[in-house]
Amino acid sequence: MLRFSVLTLFPDLIQDAVQTSITGRALRAGLIELQTIQIRDYAVNDYGQVDDALYGGGTGMLLRPEPIYAAWQDAQVDKNSNPVEQILANDHSPKIKTILLSPKGQVLNQKRVEELAKEDQLVLICGHYEGIDQRVLDEVVDLEISIGDYVLTGGEIAAIVLIDAVSRLVPGVLPRDEAHELESHSLGRLEQPHYTRPANWQGRTVPDVLTSGHQAKIDRHQYLASLAETMRKRPDLFNQLQLDPADYRDLIEFYRSNACQ
Ligand SMILES: C[S@@+](CC[C@H](N)C(=O)[O-])C[C@H]1O[C@@H](n2cnc3c(N)ncnc32)[C@H](O)[C@@H]1O
Repeated sequence: MLRFSVLTLFPDLIQDAVQTSITGRALRAGLIELQTIQIRDYAVNDYGQVDDALYGGGTGMLLRPEPIYAAWQDAQVDKNSNPVEQILANDHSPKIKTILLSPKGQVLNQKRVEELAKEDQLVLICGHYEGIDQRVLDEVVDLEISIGDYVLTGGEIAAIVLIDAVSRLVPGVLPRDEAHELESHSLGRLEQPHYTRPANWQGRTVPDVLTSGHQAKIDRHQYLASLAETMRKRPDLFNQLQLDPADYRDLIEFYRSNACQ
C-alpha cells in the first residue's frame, strides 16, 4: 500500500481528482491511501496567514516556513497506527520521500515514476504564489519534481499528475499488472497506434495483419509500428534504442509498405 500525503492550500482539488476513476477505485480498494493536509490549518495567526512578503523586495508573496514545517511533521505520523505497528505491517522501516512540486525540479519521467512507486509514503508539497521559503525546503525536501518546463499557478495539478502516474504502477491498481509494461516509455519507446471496430471507418482501414489471427506476425507488426511511432514523434528516444540490423531492415520495409501511414 502506498500512501500519498499532500500539503496543499486546496485539498478539495486533490481529493476530487484522485477519487475519480482508476485512482478512486484504488483508494476504495485500499491499494493506495490519500491524506490531504491543509497548510492553512497551521497558520501563524488567527487570520489564517500562511504567506508573507519577500525579503529583498519583489512582487508576490511567499509561503512561510512555519506552517509548511508543522504540516510536514504531521504528514510523517500515521494517526491510525503507531510506528512499531507500521514497521511490522510493512516488514521494514517505511520508505518515505518528501517531494516538492516545482518548475525548478527534475522533469518527471516514467523511470522516476517507477522508482517512486516502490516507496511506502510520498509526502508531496504544493507551492503557491511565488513559492516557499527556501529554509524549510532545505530542511525537509528529498527531491524536487517538475511536470514540464512551464510555470503553473500552484503545485496541485502537478501533484495530481504524479499521484496518477505512480498509482497505476502499484500492484493491483490496473486490471492486469503487466499492462503498463507495454505502454509508452516503459520500454524506452512509444506504444504503437491502436484500432478498434469498425475495420473500415470513413475509408480508413485497419492494417490487414491485425485481423489475420497470425499472432507472431501481429507481434512483429506491433513492434515495428512502435519503433516507427517513436522515430516519427520522438527522435530523441529513437536514437537511444539499441536495435539490431534485422530491426532496421524490417523498419525500412515497414515504411515502404506504408503500414505506418
Ligand atoms: C507560480 S509557481 C512559483 C514559481 C517560482 N516563482 C519560480 O519562478 O520558480 C507556484 C507553485 O506552482 C508549482 N509549480 C509551478 N510550475 C510547476 C511545474 N512545472 N511543475 C511542478 N510544480 C509547479 C510549484 O509548487 C510552485 O511553488
